[in-house]
Amino acid sequence: MVALEAEIQKPKPQVRHIDEAPMAKGPPFIGNVREMMTDPARFFYNSYCEHGPVFRFKLMGRTNYVIAGADAAKLIDRRGEKNVLRSREFWEGQTEEFGAKYSLVRDDGEVHERLRAILKRSISRDVIAGRYAQAVGILNSVFERDWRPGTTIPVTLRMQRLVSEVIGLIVAGAAPGDYAADIRTFIKYMLMTKVVQQAPDIILNLPFYKEAKRRSFEFAHQLIEDYKKTRRPPTNDDRADFIGEVLEAHEKYPDLVPASDLPQLVLSPYVAGLDTVANVLGSALYALLKNPDIMARMRAEIDAVPALDEAALRNMPVTQGVMMETLRLYPINVAGARSADIDFEFEGYRIPQGTRLFCATTVTHFMPEYYPEPEKFDIDRYQPPRREHMKPFAFSPFARGPHTCLGQGLAEILIMLTLAQLVRKVDVRLDPLDYEMKISAVPTPGPADDFMVHVERYRN
Ligand code: HEM
Repeated sequence: MVALEAEIQKPKPQVRHIDEAPMAKGPPFIGNVREMMTDPARFFYNSYCEHGPVFRFKLMGRTNYVIAGADAAKLIDRRGEKNVLRSREFWEGQTEEFGAKYSLVRDDGEVHERLRAILKRSISRDVIAGRYAQAVGILNSVFERDWRPGTTIPVTLRMQRLVSEVIGLIVAGAAPGDYAADIRTFIKYMLMTKVVQQAPDIILNLPFYKEAKRRSFEFAHQLIEDYKKTRRPPTNDDRADFIGEVLEAHEKYPDLVPASDLPQLVLSPYVAGLDTVANVLGSALYALLKNPDIMARMRAEIDAVPALDEAALRNMPVTQGVMMETLRLYPINVAGARSADIDFEFEGYRIPQGTRLFCATTVTHFMPEYYPEPEKFDIDRYQPPRREHMKPFAFSPFARGPHTCLGQGLAEILIMLTLAQLVRKVDVRLDPLDYEMKISAVPTPGPADDFMVHVERYRN
């Protein structure tokens, strides 16, 4: 009885408005632009350590709100009626820029579920089944063209070229060739202005951007026309064919997939997969060059298999550990961009409907409570009995919840296969040898453009 009375009398913790959350330190007006453009993952982690799971930061005069850590990951993971977040506000601009009616990343609820179901099969890991030899052939021809012994090359740019060809051929059935540079420019500035809002909209009126956008749309229409001319529609027995499935959905459900939405859908593997996979590959290569013991273990694992195929990749704990550790330490999507769909409370703060939030789910990646010696590139932490990533909400490189990455399975295969074939075929060293990688998040976090390697020789 006494205890109950004590409980009743205990003052309830005060719920404050999110506008009262602590503000990260930074210069006036520009705020934390530098941190957000260099290393947003470490910025969110450091701010979490200093301020706790709810904080604010300024960016070009605008206040941004962050919820961070395992509970933020738990919140964004909610589905259906329990979901209190929506994507619309952050992704509206991208949808408008594409001139589309609907969008997988922007929409929630029924429209989102239906669009996801359409794309699911054709960008699953199954699209590469039976085509490993073809993919290795593409990789080898790109290495022989772009990674020539005796040359020093910019890693990020070369990885982007490599990935655009592999994704193009495996998912969309055609490599973008000269269009790859236009697609990269179009995506980069569209994301910087319309989604992360790091740059002013005026960029969208500049001739270089308009031309890149025009050529990206031209490529999308060309893919569709080529498909109609040369390929037959998929049958039930066929491998899922991305362009074929998009066109079939357009015919079957013209309200959900109108003609206006085809360019956005056709380009979606590039928008979602190009920078992401390329940046992970760049960071993984850097980590391997900084950790020669791990590089030696990976080489031994790869050299022990006759061919890189599905069965071989499934049984490569070292290569898999390199990928997982890269996704943990160099996350691509540091925080999910969402808005409050209703008023709700989080960690003592009231978050009104419509508030734009960064849900910093990858803060746990740097917490010693989850990953002892978090800054150490330790590929064995994923193996039993440690399995550190299995703690609830510890590992979220592909986000969580209804918008979790649709290309995760395919991305994992592309990363492991490309990295393994690179390590198998090409010997490179850092140039200069003591280079320390800087991260550039303009807009997708990854190695800065000054990350160069010298190609020494082909191994076989
Ligand atoms: C390392 C590589 C990749 C990473 C780290 C990654 C990460 C992510 C993340 C974090 C999201 C969720 C964004 C959000 O919550 O708003 C996402 C969404 C998505 N990703 Fe990936 N991605 C990768 C590669 C790919 C690839 C290769 C494809 C397709 C070919 C792809 C297709 C998609 C699609 C379609 C969505 C939207 C899903 C939806 O809104 O329902 N991703 N990705």
